[in-house]
Amino acid sequence: MRILIICTLLFGMRFTTLAQSVPAPVKAVFDKYSCGSCHVLDKRMVGPSWRELSAKKYSPKKMAKLIREPKPENWPNFPPMAPITHISDAEVRVVADWLGRLQKI
Ligand code: HEC
Repeated sequence: MRILIICTLLFGMRFTTLAQSVPAPVKAVFDKYSCGSCHVLDKRMVGPSWRELSAKKYSPKKMAKLIREPKPENWPNFPPMAPITHISDAEVRVVADWLGRLQKI
């Protein structure tokens, strides 16, 4: 009986972390460009949280433009983000698709 309870707890925890963690392809982009040092899922760090960014509902095209030429006026109270000009359209799409799905999680 005790083992059953422990298994249930472990399983439950696993599912919680899975739902909240960043999928591997998205994480790869974040790691490559260190996005994670300024943006995290649910907390304001140097930049807005991914949830706040997801609420803006940017298209991949719009997001690519904003990452390459950030508009700090969109985010009063934050320091300006440094432009990341070498990120590819495919990489931005991976991030934008995930942000789109994040609204439902
Ligand atoms: C050095 C810190 C830093 C890094 C690294 C960084 N950001 Fe930002 N980001 C910010 C800040 C601060 C803002 C808000 C001010 C601004 O938009 O200039 C922001 C804003 C944004 C916005 C919103 C733009 C808008 O106008 O609404 C997006 C989208 C974004 N970041 C995505 C990314 C992605 C994707 C990466 C990695 C490829 C990344 N950021 C890396 C600090 C950072």
